[in-house]
Amino acid sequence: MIKLSNINKIYKVGNTDFYALNDVSLEIKKGEFVAIRGASGSGKTSLLNIIGCLDNCSSGTYLLNDKDVSKISDGQKSKIRNEQIGFVLQDFALIDSQSVIYNVKLPLLFGRGSFSTLNRKARKALKLVGISEQAKKKANQLSGGQRQRVAIARAIVNWPSLILADEPTGQLDSKTGMQIMELLEALNEQGMTVIVVTHDDKIASYASRIITISDGKIV
Ligand SMILES: Nc1ncnc2c1ncn2[C@@H]1O[C@H](COP(=O)(O)OP(=O)(O)OP(=O)(O)O)[C@@H](O)[C@H]1O
Ligand SMILES: [Mg+2]
Repeated sequence: MIKLSNINKIYKVGNTDFYALNDVSLEIKKGEFVAIRGASGSGKTSLLNIIGCLDNCSSGTYLLNDKDVSKISDGQKSKIRNEQIGFVLQDFALIDSQSVIYNVKLPLLFGRGSFSTLNRKARKALKLVGISEQAKKKANQLSGGQRQRVAIARAIVNWPSLILADEPTGQLDSKTGMQIMELLEALNEQGMTVIVVTHDDKIASYASRIITISDGKIV
């Protein structure tokens, strides 16, 4: 599903090149549950942003479902993101003043579908993450764990084939963090490919494969 070959990500710092990713090659198969583990500044988010078509690599090739996405337009990239990828972030990135169900429906508002179809899909996603009773609350009326569940419901509302989670448990206590990992595990069992970025070994241990990154290189 994902095939990165000799990927470099270079940031210009003054007039020197800084390699955030240095000759990274890796393959992730459909249906895998992978953790990308590494210290702060090792390049995890840079890597995830490329995998998620949020950023371009400086050189190398990236095949996503056999399509070379290093060469496609920004418009095509956003279409791929919307249709195929669900994002889960450390800070949840919810719209606080809106209801839970509105937050979950958000990705669907860019596509087609009647009001009732949108609601049905959002309800289904909320049920799957176990917070159906909270649907009408405002996002800022929930606990951290509940907020992350809303974010995951929003990520899966389009039923993407790939879920990318960047430190999804970073703001949660360890017990709640483990519940979130169990939820990602359950989604993986439903067939979604899951990639979790973390610096925490315990969180990484939920994955069936751990990829370690250090100073922009896979080790
Ligand atoms: N826009 C940028 N310009 C210059 N350097 C950058 C930029 N973005 C990231 N970097 C550098 O690239 C390196 C990798 O950053 P990245 O955010 O990928 O690390 P990370 O592993 O996700 O770290 P953390 O665990 O702290 O989130 C860091 O040294 C960072 O300072
Ligand atoms: Mg990061």
